[in-house]
Amino acid sequence: MREFLLHRAAIYTTFQHLTGAGKARKDLVEKLELKAGDKILDIGCGPADILRYLPADVQYTGFDNNENYIRSAKKQFKNRGNFFCQEVGADLLKNTLVETNSFNVVLATGILHHLADDQAISLFELAKAMLIKGGKLVTLDGCFTKNQRLVAKFVLRLDRGKFVRTKQEYIKLAKYHFSGVKTEISDNALKIPYTLIIMECRSD
Ligand SMILES: C[S@@+](CC[C@H](N)C(=O)[O-])C[C@H]1O[C@@H](n2cnc3c(N)ncnc32)[C@H](O)[C@@H]1O
Repeated sequence: MREFLLHRAAIYTTFQHLTGAGKARKDLVEKLELKAGDKILDIGCGPADILRYLPADVQYTGFDNNENYIRSAKKQFKNRGNFFCQEVGADLLKNTLVETNSFNVVLATGILHHLADDQAISLFELAKAMLIKGGKLVTLDGCFTKNQRLVAKFVLRLDRGKFVRTKQEYIKLAKYHFSGVKTEISDNALKIPYTLIIMECRSD
């Protein structure tokens, strides 16, 4: 039932709003330090809600394997971005809608914890191939930590994503393709008890 409801873009966006995801997205966008004309690729973009917080002068491309979300993104944001339906791990490098070594920023917010290790590693591979030299991949996901509140652990276990990991486990996956990985953990970014990890992976 939850899966069925959250598959609908409007319900997903409302649920996200209630958890305080809007503020978390706004804070994340500030950390990106974007410049006019920057190209952004959003992997697992959902209904592309992040576009509400991105400056108008960046070039946004988002993809997701959920057709409902992509349809909603196209309807809502029209020509503010390019949106397409695709699976991570499929051969995106052959997709003519995206050019390798051309993005300043790759975003992957809330997707790694939906992916098994081999698929997560292919996400890092893809991000590396898409970034310009000096560009960065920024990820955001739920995270298990030693001293987190039991209620936060419980909420993470209820997540639709079945691959919530520890900081060390996320870093291990990132290191297959990125040598420079910085992490930040927050227990109070959302209105619900939840621990988030943000990773910043630099392409050198
Ligand atoms: C928690 S949502 C996050 C959506 C959006 N990035 C956000 O921050 O609101 C995770 C997204 O990853 C997408 N996703 C999960 N597995 C995927 C895959 N293998 N390929 C492409 N997208 C995937 C889901 O459809 C969903 O939109």
